Amino acid sequence: SSDLKNGKSVSLPPSVTSPSRLANTSTSLTSNAPIGVFDSGMGGLSVLRHVHALLPAEELLYFADSGFAPYGEKPESVIVERVLSIAEFLQTFHVKAMVVACNTATAAAISALRSQYPYMHVVGVEPGLKPAAAITKSGVVGVLATTSTLTSEKFQKLQQHITESVQVKFITQACNGLVDQIEKGELNSRATAELVERYLTPLLKHHADTIVLGCTHYPFVQSLIEHVANVAGRRIIQVDTGEPVARQLQRLLTQHALLREPSATPARIQAFTSGSRSTRENAFHQLLGLSVSVASVEALGPGT
Ligand code: DGL
Repeated sequence: SSDLKNGKSVSLPPSVTSPSRLANTSTSLTSNAPIGVFDSGMGGLSVLRHVHALLPAEELLYFADSGFAPYGEKPESVIVERVLSIAEFLQTFHVKAMVVACNTATAAAISALRSQYPYMHVVGVEPGLKPAAAITKSGVVGVLATTSTLTSEKFQKLQQHITESVQVKFITQACNGLVDQIEKGELNSRATAELVERYLTPLLKHHADTIVLGCTHYPFVQSLIEHVANVAGRRIIQVDTGEPVARQLQRLLTQHALLREPSATPARIQAFTSGSRSTRENAFHQLLGLSVSVASVEALGPGT
């Protein structure tokens, strides 16, 4: 049986390329190695789509910790433990870089991840406060994110840093329950629309004209957010950080001569989940228009 929490004995279905148990070292990062991308669930696909579009030659491994989502209402120590376990799993495939495609996991665990793997190229996601501050005309920026992200020290510092140099007011709104709706694939249901309306309305009331999507799940309800704003007679700009993250990854790989050479065979995307396999396969199709086979990894973390 597998034990993702301890990462020592993860068993994979036979269809999956067999990983080596050896940990990667600084000298063994190779340009043909895959890139590991992970999230608490399917949200990270809003980052993966930009990585795939910008770097089509790269082989990608996506890990959706759906059996454990949402992260955003869990204690930081639990998130750190999950992230380190997922990283250990990805390491068995000799990944050359990891993308933490989750704002919550980045805020809670990126420093622990970097100190655990000092030689690894790690790219995280942060709410796009800076680009939003440059865009806003009303001077009010609304930030939608998880409770955990908004209360994290990393986010508090980022916000403080920006407000010290620019005259912008940030209004934050935790969106409990929204990740669950997106995980269920309910991108357009009445229940999801009601949640979006509940969370967006106070921001609009404060005259926010720019909305930061501070959780990688939220770009999948971008049209719903726009619709709610339109109904309220407002025009807003939404800030999604998927593309800058992909560019940052490209810069890092270029700088370290780790870009994979394009080959005749298209690069593979392999996916793993601690949740239901068929639901995730549908989600790849629904969210990205890609057909990707998903392997189940049984997770034995706390709370499961
Ligand atoms: N996609 C994660 C993020 O960016 C969602 C966190 C959660 O699972 O609550 O924050």
